[in-house]
Amino acid sequence: INKGNGVKGLSELGLKALPKQYIQPLEERMCMTNIVPQGSIPIIDMSKWEDPKVAKSICDAASEWGFFQIVNHDVPIEVLLENVKDATYNFFKMPVEVKNKYSKEHSSSNNVRFGTSFTPQAEKAVEWKDYLSLFYVSEEEASALWPSICREKVLDYMKKSEVVIKQLLQVLMKGLNVDEIDEAKESLLMGSMRTNLNYYPKCPNPKLTVGVGRHSDVSTLIILLQDEIGGPFVRGNEGDDWIHVPPIKGSLVINVGDALQIMSNGRYRSVEHRVVANGSKNRISVPIFVNARPIDMIGPLPELVANGEKPIHKQVLYSDYVKHFFRKAHDGKKTVEFAE
Ligand code: SIN
Ligand code: FE2
Repeated sequence: INKGNGVKGLSELGLKALPKQYIQPLEERMCMTNIVPQGSIPIIDMSKWEDPKVAKSICDAASEWGFFQIVNHDVPIEVLLENVKDATYNFFKMPVEVKNKYSKEHSSSNNVRFGTSFTPQAEKAVEWKDYLSLFYVSEEEASALWPSICREKVLDYMKKSEVVIKQLLQVLMKGLNVDEIDEAKESLLMGSMRTNLNYYPKCPNPKLTVGVGRHSDVSTLIILLQDEIGGPFVRGNEGDDWIHVPPIKGSLVINVGDALQIMSNGRYRSVEHRVVANGSKNRISVPIFVNARPIDMIGPLPELVANGEKPIHKQVLYSDYVKHFFRKAHDGKKTVEFAE
């Protein structure tokens, strides 16, 4: 009944009950955990990002929480509130035959992928989410391969975000006493980028499933635009506490990924997070994943180890690390063991 139209297609059938394959085991359901009242994740004003006090708050947030939100940053508000949202809705509202040109079965390239859940072939229960994933290689390739209905707006979002990404990385490196980001280091920190358009349709029984299961991200940094619905939760510092990341109009959510934890030798933390499903509204989010290049070796930065610090992670080929992540279902923060 739903061939190839993802979770959005299922949601639009108006089902009264959640189909069996989406029912998560009890321990993966959000209702089994402690939800900490919101407000704990730092909100950082980027208008004076070079001010030592602001820089310190960024580095502290990356060490203590692994997550923070930024406001008064350099990505124009209309790009976030209009363009990127339009691009996402416009893609997902296209007929299923058109979207399916980008599915695993039909896409002419791995760099463009329309899909559902995370790793359906490896999951015991699938996730209540559809996505379009766009790996950036060049303007030319994007022109040839990306869906034209969202291409320009997504490219513009990525380009405008690069300014903020560079500011954040400069501050975070300075916090490790790495004063200069030369070409080699820039390539290691942000040599490749991927943008996902995520669509979480309204769910008939949100308590039984998840939008995204517990995981940490493999990237260096992740910049995420979310709409006004809410849904992401971050693991707190105490046991099974989970902290909501509330929507703030015009803000971007920033988090540290595994690669930056590894490069910083554990100074900055890649923290487990998840997304709940919603019983009354459709939700979208649009993360930009900032990555090393697949051919790069990642490991604790030489500047840190040179100071006599003991490396707590080993060197790994980034493409192997990513492959390891995609071989299994979302299962909490386990990928980083690959670099231990
Ligand atoms: C994710 O972390 O995988 C998605 C976050 C979100 O949709 O808010
Ligand atoms: Fe994530």
